[in-house]
Amino acid sequence: MARLLHHVVLAVSLLTLAWPASCQRLPVLVPVTKDRATSLHTIPFHYGANLVVDIAGPLVWSECQSDHLPADFACRSDTCRDANTYPVPGCSATGCDRKHKVCTVYPYNPVTGACAAGSLVHTRFVANTTNGKNPVEQVSVRAVSACATKELLKSLPRGATGVAGLAGSGVALPAQVASSQKVAKKFLLCLSRGGVYGDGVAIFGGGPLHLTAQPETDYTQSLEYTPLFTKEGNPAYYVSVKSIALENSIVPVSTRTLDAGGVVLCTRVPYTLLRPDVYLPFADAFRTAMKAQNASMVKSVAPFGLCYNTSTLANTRLGYLVPTVTLALEGGKKWTMTGVHSMVDVKRGTACLAFVQMKGVKAGDGNVPAMIVGGFQLENFVLQFDLEKKRLGFFKLPFFTNCGHFNFTRRSG
Ligand SMILES: *[C@@H]1O[C@H](CO)[C@@H](O)[C@H](O)[C@H]1NC(C)=O
Ligand SMILES: *[C@@H]1O[C@H](CO)[C@@H](O)[C@H](O)[C@H]1NC(C)=O
Ligand SMILES: *[C@@H]1O[C@H](CO)[C@@H](O)[C@H](O)[C@H]1NC(C)=O
Ligand SMILES: *[C@@H]1O[C@H](CO)[C@@H](O)[C@H](O)[C@H]1NC(C)=O
Repeated sequence: MARLLHHVVLAVSLLTLAWPASCQRLPVLVPVTKDRATSLHTIPFHYGANLVVDIAGPLVWSECQSDHLPADFACRSDTCRDANTYPVPGCSATGCDRKHKVCTVYPYNPVTGACAAGSLVHTRFVANTTNGKNPVEQVSVRAVSACATKELLKSLPRGATGVAGLAGSGVALPAQVASSQKVAKKFLLCLSRGGVYGDGVAIFGGGPLHLTAQPETDYTQSLEYTPLFTKEGNPAYYVSVKSIALENSIVPVSTRTLDAGGVVLCTRVPYTLLRPDVYLPFADAFRTAMKAQNASMVKSVAPFGLCYNTSTLANTRLGYLVPTVTLALEGGKKWTMTGVHSMVDVKRGTACLAFVQMKGVKAGDGNVPAMIVGGFQLENFVLQFDLEKKRLGFFKLPFFTNCGHFNFTRRSG
């Protein structure tokens, strides 16, 4: 009897061991390229089509192609409802072409703010699966995208044919890859500074992530977590910041001020934007701290407000030696940024504080985020957006590596 039981237990445990492996497939990998002219990041979508990464985008859209299969999604279909969950402000949306009884969607250009009516089509996302170290094999993932006319591409990087929305909605790319490929509903972003640093990486399924400088290390094991929030009617990812510190001094900006409007992550702004009631005390504190270390200010270069003579700044492996910016996050974790994330070289001899004051916004206006964390501050952080657990995992890469160190060469054999 005991022996039989033993066999049964063994068989069951073998089954449970085998089961996840057969049903969960490998994560899906794409290189993420930074465009120098616009500072936007793009990913290849399929043969020759490159889409701008918009983590706040609720849809995938691209220029209409003649080979797009016409797909008549009914107005009442789940897909149509999902695609219209987040109406674009200022875009008159009805969600339905009543004459032809097909779904209408409203692709949106995150740079110009323009939107246009379009239709939903079946398409394919061609990428590689990955073991977290190298590409493994090419896959063609079924997807639904909106198709728009060429006019909507204005101000996107040269060669971009649309936008890959990575928000938490049902028709954004993460949910679509998760359901077609049976990977976890999370994605990892590691944005590179571009140019000589090479391409960064996105992994749908969330990881693991290994980089060539330390091939045995899976950086997703080092993630720290903070809750992700969304706001009613807004697909963007918010985090809760309790306070901001410069070096070890708290900047006089209250939690209530930061909570009014919140703190949102955004790949479509190149540098972090601060609402005036956050920027002014922050810039004041920074200026005072820099004065104490005898850094000399030079004429500022737009859009930046505080610029310094680089020969009066010490340079280290963590960037210029300036007061460390620390965001204290909900859950007690800290997001720290040294000179590499807070100072940008704008021209020979001049480096500026890479935090910018929002224009045309009133101090304390709770309809506007207190802080929009932009691309420059997100680069070279491993960011894992977990849509199931509604949390953001983050990890600052050590100085000897960066997001350009993923090995995109397939293992032979
Ligand atoms: C998949 O990886 C191989 C090997 O690196 C590469 O040649 C190919 O372009 C990749 N495919 C896609 C769609 O990225
Ligand atoms: C800044 O300059 C003053 C006057 O020259 C000097 O006393 C002080 O030690 C300097 N501070 C630093 C941090 O170098
Ligand atoms: C920067 O500082 C160096 C050394 O103090 C000085 O020679 C140079 O003229 C300064 N540059 C500017 C733009 O002020
Ligand atoms: C990248 O991966 C390939 C295949 O495993 C390997 O041959 C090559 O040495 C790796 N390159 C680096 C820089 O680690």
